[in-house]
Amino acid sequence: MARATSAAAPPAAPADFRLEPGDPRHVAVIMDGNGRWARARGRARVWGHRAGARTVRAITTECARLGLPELTLYAFSSENWRRPRREVGLLMRLLLRHAVGERRTIMDNGVRLRTLGDLEALPVAVRREVERTVELSASNRGTVLRLALNYGGRAEIAAAARRIAERAVAGELAPAQVDEGAVAAHLHDPSMSDPDLVIRTAGEMRLSNFLLWQASYAEFWVTPVEWPDFRETHLHEAIREFRRRVRRYGGVVESQGPGG
Ligand code: IPE
Ligand code: IPE
Ligand code: MG
Repeated sequence: MARATSAAAPPAAPADFRLEPGDPRHVAVIMDGNGRWARARGRARVWGHRAGARTVRAITTECARLGLPELTLYAFSSENWRRPRREVGLLMRLLLRHAVGERRTIMDNGVRLRTLGDLEALPVAVRREVERTVELSASNRGTVLRLALNYGGRAEIAAAARRIAERAVAGELAPAQVDEGAVAAHLHDPSMSDPDLVIRTAGEMRLSNFLLWQASYAEFWVTPVEWPDFRETHLHEAIREFRRRVRRYGGVVESQGPGG
């Protein structure tokens, strides 16, 4: 039986949705379910990845319209190399196509493209085109779109520890100076703020090695909707839900009333 939640795409985005004070300033998305979406339609998984790439464009454009400062999309994890060669190859070609083909969308919307992850392992052409789009869009003023590519949260933290150790050995940093701020300053992109809201599509309730350090106090919103069916209205729904959350950061919020 078809999954009811992905049966019909919701109507087009209400253009009157706006960000309000207190809304997330950094939204990060675990874009999952491309494969299942395609298989449920009797197609190869790669077909789902093509459809997912269209969703990336729609959501990026909407975040730019909303004036969201930061959007981070988990596009390829350090564990995704475990997939069949053919699928990895297609994902790399899609990335290449995105880096080139989406330049116009990125520039028209004032988006600044950046990356998160170890780009060294990517095919050289993919890396070159992604880096070219990063350079071209560097002086834009809008949403910072970070694509997490060959990204792993543990690898990122381990790399930070390694650099801190190197600096300690070189006498640039004393062990007593290694606090949370120092670790954060040695992550892939020290200019990145912690995500306020992490969205995961396709229903899985896990982080899959995404932003392990940065997401420590993020609000988590999971939808059964698979990424190719994810629309602007779902993003709005996530933000509306975020507005209802009470972020306590381990403290107490007095407005909860007696006993709260
Ligand atoms: C997400 O969709 C895309 C990537 C991880 C690259 P999946 O390919 O993981 O789709 P499912 O989870 O198998 O449905
Ligand atoms: C997480 O999705 C990685 C990306 C969205 C790029 P996966 O499909 O790889 O996660 P698991 O394997 O279900 O944990
Ligand atoms: Mg998946």
